Amino acid sequence: MSTWHRTTVIENRHWTESLFSLRVEGAPLGFEAGQFVRIGLDPEPGNEATRIARAFSFVNPPGDPVLEFYGVIVPGGQLSPRLALLRPGDALYVAGNPAGFLVLSEVPEAEVLWLVSTGTGIAPFLSMLRTETPWQRFRTVVLVHAVRYARERVYRELIGELLEQRKDALRYVTFVSREAAPDALAGRVPAALLDGRLETAAGVALSPERSHVMLCGNPDMLRDAQAALLERGLRKHRRRNPGQVSVESFW
Ligand SMILES: Cc1cc2nc3c(=O)[nH]c(=O)nc-3n(C[C@H](O)[C@H](O)[C@H](O)COP(=O)(O)OP(=O)(O)OC[C@H]3O[C@@H](n4cnc5c(N)ncnc54)[C@H](O)[C@@H]3O)c2cc1C
Ligand SMILES: NC(=O)c1ccc[n+]([C@@H]2O[C@H](COP(=O)([O-])OP(=O)(O)OC[C@H]3O[C@@H](n4cnc5c(N)ncnc54)[C@H](OP(=O)(O)O)[C@@H]3O)[C@@H](O)[C@H]2O)c1
Repeated sequence: MSTWHRTTVIENRHWTESLFSLRVEGAPLGFEAGQFVRIGLDPEPGNEATRIARAFSFVNPPGDPVLEFYGVIVPGGQLSPRLALLRPGDALYVAGNPAGFLVLSEVPEAEVLWLVSTGTGIAPFLSMLRTETPWQRFRTVVLVHAVRYARERVYRELIGELLEQRKDALRYVTFVSREAAPDALAGRVPAALLDGRLETAAGVALSPERSHVMLCGNPDMLRDAQAALLERGLRKHRRRNPGQVSVESFW
C-alpha cells in the first residue's frame, strides 16, 4: 500500500478536444525520468474507498516541484474523462511510489538512442529529454511521435526549444496516420522501420551494434515494431540477456 499525496491542480491545458496536460503541485516525489505514478480521484469527495487511480508517466523531469501528466480522454473510461474536467484549485491524488523500468539507467551503451512513441506514449520521453543523461550518454537521440492527426503532435514548443538547444544531437520525426501532413511521415512506424523511411527521415542508421530503441504507447505498435526490429536484427533487452529494445505498454 502506498501513501497518497493530495495535490492541487494549477493548470489543465487542452490541446485538442481529447488531449490534455495536467500540472499539479504538492507532492515532493523522487523518481527517475521515464517512470510513472498512479494518480486518482474520489468520485465521492472525501471518500477514499471510491478512489479510481491509473498509471500516468511524468512529463516533468525529476526535481521539478510541479508535476505534469499528459493524457487522452478514453471514451467511456473511468478516470481519464474526469481528469480532463479538472480545473485550477481542484484536488488530484498522487501515489507516493513512482515506478517503472523504461528508464535510461536500464539502457546499455549505444551511440544512437531511438525514443519511439504513439499518442500519449511521448510523455516519458519528454521527461528524459529534459535531463542531462541522454546528452551525456548518446551521440544522437531520435524522438519519434506517431499520431492519428497532425494537431496531435503536442509539446511542439518544448521540442522546438530542445532541438535548438541540442542541435547536433536531437532529431525529431513525426508520423501522421489518418490525414495528409506535408512535414510528417505517413502510415505507421513498423512499416517505416522495415522500408528504411524512418532512418532516412532521421538521417541516422539503425543497427544492432550502434542503436538502442525504447518503445512506448499502444500495445499493438509495441508488438508490430518489435517484430520489425527483430527483422532488422534488434531484440528485446533484458537485464540477464541484453538486447537493444526496451518497451512500456500503456494498456
Ligand atoms: C505504465 C503506464 C503508464 C501510463 N502512462 C500514461 C500517460 O502518461 N498518459 C495517459 O494518457 N495514459 C497513461 N497510461 C494509461 C492510463 O493508466 C489509463 O489506462 C488511461 O488513462 C485510461 O484510463 P480510464 O480509467 O479512463 O479508462 P479505462 O476504463 O481504464 O480504459 C482502458 C482502455 O483505454 C484505452 N487506453 C488506455 N490508456 C490509453 C492511452 N494512453 N491512449 C490511448 N488509449 C488508451 C485502452 O483501450 C484500454 O484498454 C499508462 C498506463 C501504464 C500501464
Ligand atoms: N486521437 C483522437 O483524435 C481521439 C479522439 C477521441 C478519443 N480517442 C481515443 O483515444 C484512444 C487512442 O487514441 P490515440 O490516437 O491516442 O492512440 P492510438 O490509437 O494508439 O493511435 C496513435 C498512433 O498509433 C498508431 N498505431 C495503432 N496501432 C498500431 C500498430 N499496430 N503499429 C503501429 N502503429 C500503430 C495509429 O495508427 P492508425 O491511425 O493507423 O491506427 C496512430 O498513428 C482511443 O480509445 C480513442 O478512441 C482518440
